[in-house]
Amino acid sequence: MKSFFVLTLKIMYTMKKRFIFLITIMFSLFITSCRYDFILPVPVVPVTGDVSFATQVAPIFSTAGKCTSCHKTGGQSPDYTAANAYASIVPALVNTASPADSRIYTFAGPATSTHSWKKLSAAEDAIILQWITQGAKNN
Ligand code: HEC
Repeated sequence: MKSFFVLTLKIMYTMKKRFIFLITIMFSLFITSCRYDFILPVPVVPVTGDVSFATQVAPIFSTAGKCTSCHKTGGQSPDYTAANAYASIVPALVNTASPADSRIYTFAGPATSTHSWKKLSAAEDAIILQWITQGAKNN
Protein backbone atom coordinates (compact mmCIF):
# COMPACT_ATOMS: atom_id res chain seq x y z
CA MET A 1 0.00 0.00 0.00
CA LYS A 2 2.77 2.38 0.93
CA SER A 3 4.66 1.63 -2.23
CA PHE A 4 1.50 2.31 -4.25
CA PHE A 5 1.18 5.69 -2.59
CA VAL A 6 4.80 6.54 -3.31
CA LEU A 7 4.38 5.39 -6.88
CA THR A 8 1.30 7.59 -7.32
CA LEU A 9 3.16 10.55 -5.92
CA LYS A 10 6.09 9.88 -8.24
CA ILE A 11 3.80 9.69 -11.26
CA MET A 12 2.06 12.89 -10.26
CA TYR A 13 5.41 14.55 -9.78
CA THR A 14 6.68 13.57 -13.22
CA MET A 15 3.35 14.55 -14.74
CA LYS A 16 3.59 17.91 -13.12
CA LYS A 17 7.06 18.34 -14.53
CA ARG A 18 5.77 17.38 -17.94
CA PHE A 19 2.86 19.69 -17.52
CA ILE A 20 5.18 22.58 -16.68
CA PHE A 21 7.36 21.59 -19.62
CA LEU A 22 4.35 21.53 -21.92
CA ILE A 23 3.13 24.89 -20.66
CA THR A 24 6.60 26.36 -21.24
CA ILE A 25 6.72 25.02 -24.79
CA MET A 26 3.23 26.27 -25.58
CA PHE A 27 3.93 29.64 -24.07
CA SER A 28 7.13 30.09 -26.06
CA LEU A 29 5.35 28.99 -29.23
CA PHE A 30 2.65 31.51 -28.48
CA ILE A 31 5.19 34.27 -27.93
CA THR A 32 7.26 33.48 -31.03
CA SER A 33 4.23 32.98 -33.25
CA CYS A 34 3.25 36.61 -32.92
CA ARG A 35 4.24 38.69 -35.90
CA TYR A 36 5.04 42.25 -35.24
CA ASP A 37 4.48 44.27 -38.34
CA PHE A 38 5.43 47.74 -37.34
CA ILE A 39 4.21 50.26 -39.84
CA LEU A 40 6.91 52.82 -39.86
CA PRO A 41 6.15 56.24 -41.24
CA VAL A 42 7.84 56.81 -44.56
CA PRO A 43 10.80 59.05 -43.83
CA VAL A 44 10.54 62.25 -45.74
CA VAL A 45 13.79 63.24 -47.32
CA PRO A 46 14.32 66.88 -46.46
CA VAL A 47 14.15 69.00 -49.55
CA THR A 48 17.25 71.11 -49.95
CA GLY A 49 18.29 73.57 -52.58
CA ASP A 50 16.22 75.59 -54.99
CA VAL A 51 13.01 73.96 -56.04
CA SER A 52 12.00 74.53 -59.63
CA PHE A 53 8.31 74.90 -60.36
CA ALA A 54 8.63 73.68 -63.94
CA THR A 55 10.76 70.60 -63.29
CA GLN A 56 9.81 69.60 -59.74
CA VAL A 57 6.43 70.99 -58.75
CA ALA A 58 4.35 70.93 -61.92
CA PRO A 59 5.22 67.28 -62.72
CA ILE A 60 3.80 66.22 -59.34
CA PHE A 61 0.35 67.16 -60.63
CA SER A 62 0.67 65.95 -64.18
CA THR A 63 2.76 62.76 -63.95
CA ALA A 64 0.50 59.84 -64.84
CA GLY A 65 -2.41 62.27 -64.57
CA LYS A 66 -2.27 62.13 -60.80
CA CYS A 67 -4.10 65.42 -60.41
CA THR A 68 -4.60 66.43 -64.03
CA SER A 69 -6.93 63.51 -64.66
CA CYS A 70 -9.50 65.81 -63.04
CA HIS A 71 -7.80 69.19 -62.74
CA LYS A 72 -7.37 69.87 -66.43
CA THR A 73 -8.37 72.50 -68.95
CA GLY A 74 -12.13 72.35 -69.21
CA GLY A 75 -12.31 69.94 -66.26
CA GLN A 76 -12.34 70.46 -62.52
CA SER A 77 -10.76 73.75 -61.49
CA PRO A 78 -7.97 74.51 -60.65
CA ASP A 79 -6.33 73.55 -63.94
CA TYR A 80 -2.99 71.89 -63.11
CA THR A 81 -1.83 71.07 -66.62
CA ALA A 82 1.75 72.21 -67.18
CA ALA A 83 0.80 75.27 -69.25
CA ASN A 84 -1.73 76.58 -66.73
CA ALA A 85 -0.57 75.21 -63.37
CA TYR A 86 1.38 78.26 -62.24
CA ALA A 87 -1.42 80.73 -63.01
CA SER A 88 -3.91 78.45 -61.28
CA ILE A 89 -1.84 78.08 -58.14
CA VAL A 90 -0.19 81.48 -57.66
CA PRO A 91 -1.44 83.53 -55.94
CA ALA A 92 -4.80 81.85 -55.29
CA LEU A 93 -3.60 78.73 -53.51
CA VAL A 94 -0.36 79.81 -51.87
CA ASN A 95 0.34 81.79 -48.74
CA THR A 96 3.97 82.87 -48.89
CA ALA A 97 3.66 84.57 -45.49
CA SER A 98 2.69 81.27 -43.89
CA PRO A 99 3.67 78.51 -46.36
CA ALA A 100 2.30 75.62 -44.33
CA ASP A 101 -1.15 77.19 -44.52
CA SER A 102 -1.14 77.26 -48.32
CA ARG A 103 -4.20 75.60 -49.75
CA ILE A 104 -2.16 73.77 -52.40
CA TYR A 105 -0.07 72.27 -49.59
CA THR A 106 -2.85 71.39 -47.15
CA PHE A 107 -5.82 70.60 -49.35
CA ALA A 108 -4.45 67.36 -50.82
CA GLY A 109 -1.63 66.91 -48.29
CA PRO A 110 -1.35 63.48 -46.66
CA ALA A 111 -1.79 64.72 -43.11
CA THR A 112 -4.10 67.66 -43.50
CA SER A 113 -6.23 66.71 -46.47
CA THR A 114 -9.94 67.27 -46.69
CA HIS A 115 -9.72 66.45 -50.39
CA SER A 116 -11.75 63.33 -50.94
CA TRP A 117 -9.93 62.49 -54.18
CA LYS A 118 -6.22 61.86 -54.76
CA LYS A 119 -3.75 62.87 -52.09
CA LEU A 120 -0.16 63.99 -52.40
CA SER A 121 2.57 61.83 -50.92
CA ALA A 122 4.54 63.22 -47.99
CA ALA A 123 7.58 63.65 -50.25
CA GLU A 124 5.57 65.54 -52.86
CA ASP A 125 4.00 67.72 -50.22
CA ALA A 126 7.49 68.52 -48.85
CA ILE A 127 8.65 69.67 -52.29
CA ILE A 128 5.61 71.91 -52.63
CA LEU A 129 6.16 73.38 -49.16
CA GLN A 130 9.79 74.12 -49.91
CA TRP A 131 8.85 75.77 -53.20
CA ILE A 132 6.32 78.04 -51.43
CA THR A 133 8.85 78.81 -48.67
CA GLN A 134 11.23 79.96 -51.39
CA GLY A 135 8.64 82.42 -52.64
CA ALA A 136 6.48 80.31 -54.99
CA LYS A 137 8.51 81.44 -57.98
CA ASN A 138 7.73 80.63 -61.58
CA ASN A 139 11.16 79.11 -62.12
C1 HEC B 1 -10.90 62.31 -59.15
C2 HEC B 1 -10.82 63.72 -59.43
C3 HEC B 1 -9.74 64.52 -58.71
C4 HEC B 1 -8.40 64.26 -58.66
C5 HEC B 1 -7.63 63.10 -59.25
C6 HEC B 1 -7.83 65.35 -57.91
N1 HEC B 1 -8.80 66.24 -57.53
FE1 HEC B 1 -8.49 67.98 -56.51
N2 HEC B 1 -10.47 68.37 -56.57
C7 HEC B 1 -11.43 67.56 -57.15
C8 HEC B 1 -12.74 68.12 -56.89
C9 HEC B 1 -14.06 67.51 -57.34
C10 HEC B 1 -12.55 69.32 -56.16
C11 HEC B 1 -13.61 70.28 -55.61
C12 HEC B 1 -13.63 70.22 -54.10
C13 HEC B 1 -13.84 68.83 -53.54
O1 HEC B 1 -14.82 68.18 -53.90
O2 HEC B 1 -13.00 68.35 -52.77
C14 HEC B 1 -11.12 69.45 -55.98
C15 HEC B 1 -10.51 70.49 -55.35
C16 HEC B 1 -9.17 70.65 -55.17
C17 HEC B 1 -8.52 71.78 -54.53
C18 HEC B 1 -9.21 73.02 -53.95
C19 HEC B 1 -9.25 74.08 -54.98
C20 HEC B 1 -9.79 75.40 -54.47
O3 HEC B 1 -10.00 76.29 -55.31
O4 HEC B 1 -9.96 75.55 -53.27
C21 HEC B 1 -7.18 71.55 -54.53
C22 HEC B 1 -6.08 72.44 -53.96
C23 HEC B 1 -6.99 70.25 -55.17
N3 HEC B 1 -8.21 69.74 -55.54
C24 HEC B 1 -5.77 69.66 -55.33
C25 HEC B 1 -5.56 68.43 -55.93
C26 HEC B 1 -4.28 67.82 -56.06
C27 HEC B 1 -2.97 68.43 -55.57
C28 HEC B 1 -4.47 66.63 -56.70
C29 HEC B 1 -3.46 65.57 -57.05
C30 HEC B 1 -2.72 65.03 -55.93
C31 HEC B 1 -5.90 66.51 -56.97
N4 HEC B 1 -6.53 67.63 -56.48
C32 HEC B 1 -6.47 65.45 -57.62
C33 HEC B 1 -11.21 66.38 -57.84
C34 HEC B 1 -9.99 65.77 -58.01
